[in-house]
Amino acid sequence: MQDFIGLQGLEAGELTELLTLAETLSDILTRPIKKVPTLRGKAIANLFFEASTRTRNSFELAGKYMSADVINFQASGSSVEKGETLYDTASNLMAMGIDAVVMRHKVGGSPGLLADLLEIPVINGGDGMHEHPTQGLLDLLTIKLHRGRVAGQKVAIVGDVLHSRVARSDIWGLSIMGAEVTIVGPPNLLPPGLPVKTTTDLETGIRGAHVIQVLRLQRERQAGGEIPSLREYRERWGLTQDRVDRWAPEALIMHPGPQNRGVEIDSDVLDGLQSMVLDQVRLGVAVRMAVLYRLLGGHNEI
Ligand code: CP
Repeated sequence: MQDFIGLQGLEAGELTELLTLAETLSDILTRPIKKVPTLRGKAIANLFFEASTRTRNSFELAGKYMSADVINFQASGSSVEKGETLYDTASNLMAMGIDAVVMRHKVGGSPGLLADLLEIPVINGGDGMHEHPTQGLLDLLTIKLHRGRVAGQKVAIVGDVLHSRVARSDIWGLSIMGAEVTIVGPPNLLPPGLPVKTTTDLETGIRGAHVIQVLRLQRERQAGGEIPSLREYRERWGLTQDRVDRWAPEALIMHPGPQNRGVEIDSDVLDGLQSMVLDQVRLGVAVRMAVLYRLLGGHNEI
């Protein structure tokens, strides 16, 4: 594996290997001194052209916990504002000795394009509506650790699937690993052509689910005003504790964040006992350590 652009097309064995590595590396997060020399001497650039809290900071910590040097490139205040191209930005950073690039961009396909142009590994930190592969991986790890396995799990992905790169990476990753995936939401937010079951009825979609992954309603990407009212959306597709208790009382509740509390998910569900959201975030650091380790050829001294 030279780059990490998407989960689509990967083999189950490759995903299993990354999940096993992430599980091993997650042990470092519980140590009093969270530092190993695995990537000492390596330099990583976080190139984020779109806002991020979880992905950018967890990649930064993942690199630092493995002793790499990490720089955070901010498009605002850089020469991108003077018209510098993505390739020129990245190749200039490479000339400074960067060994890998983590990139988020609002345009789907841009990390793949950069990967074709650069000789160093490029990791997709989320591109447009295409993929968010490390999020997909951390969602798989959360399910594996809490339910013992991914194969055979009934997973409902609820909400704005159309605009969600997380949903796409989840769908590819879960399908490769043998889970049974259903997407649920308003008809105009469920894209056709995905290899999963589809329903617009929340009860049908989540009844008996082992896992419910709730998606953020991405109002910033809804140019056509797809949702007439947030109140109506919440009434039909919002995850309330009452709905969880009635239809999926045993389900793990997941959300990639950031959340619109009181819209796609209620606060008591998000902060409740079934919620895995902060565990997803914690495991996100381990998964990103695993991907960096795998692509930068870390030594075996974990
Ligand atoms: N889940 C996720 O990608 O969060 P950020 O946008 O904060 O990175």
